[in-house]
Amino acid sequence: MKNVVLYYSRTRKTAVASKKLADEISADIIEIEDLKSRSGALKYINASMDAVREIKTDIKPEMVDLRDYNLIYVGTPVWAGKPAPAIITAIDKYNFQGKDVILFATLGGSGGKKTIKRMEEKIEVRGGRIITSFLIKTSGKKMHEIREEVKNKVEEMDLKIYGV
Ligand SMILES: Cc1cc2nc3c(=O)[nH]c(=O)nc-3n(C[C@H](O)[C@H](O)[C@H](O)COP(=O)(O)O)c2cc1C
Repeated sequence: MKNVVLYYSRTRKTAVASKKLADEISADIIEIEDLKSRSGALKYINASMDAVREIKTDIKPEMVDLRDYNLIYVGTPVWAGKPAPAIITAIDKYNFQGKDVILFATLGGSGGKKTIKRMEEKIEVRGGRIITSFLIKTSGKKMHEIREEVKNKVEEMDLKIYGV
């Protein structure tokens, strides 16, 4: 049974967490890129507004064939208490029907639960089954500390048991 980690990351924190996760559980990994520029202070406000309104964006890859995978991890940064637009778009485009899904989000401090809840709702109506979820706080943490936290989560939550 093959597992895959799908993630979006603007400032590489979710990327670092996703890579560590994929290493720990021996999963494939696919980065979802947002083709809309999201860098700079003004863009931060737009990004938050897009997230709140769940405005779709152009993503790469436009389509991912999930048929080879039974267990799919989906990771997003929390943006204004919501998943990033690239992840909302990916959930709409990719086919989660019949898939087991584990969700995770990285965040500065708040809005994590709400973000996970929204992803759950969207994946469940598309026929995916949520197994579990977790949050990784990133504020003030160095990249090696984020990796360490992911490793601890994998152990605490026995994530290696799934999809073997
Ligand atoms: C547009 C935007 C909105 C954000 N909103 C929140 C928020 O509501 N709550 C929070 O705890 N962190 C928030 N953050 C911080 C990110 O969730 C956090 O730094 C995350 O780990 C970044 O992941 P990345 O490096 O993969 O992009 C926000 C960041 C951005 C860019």
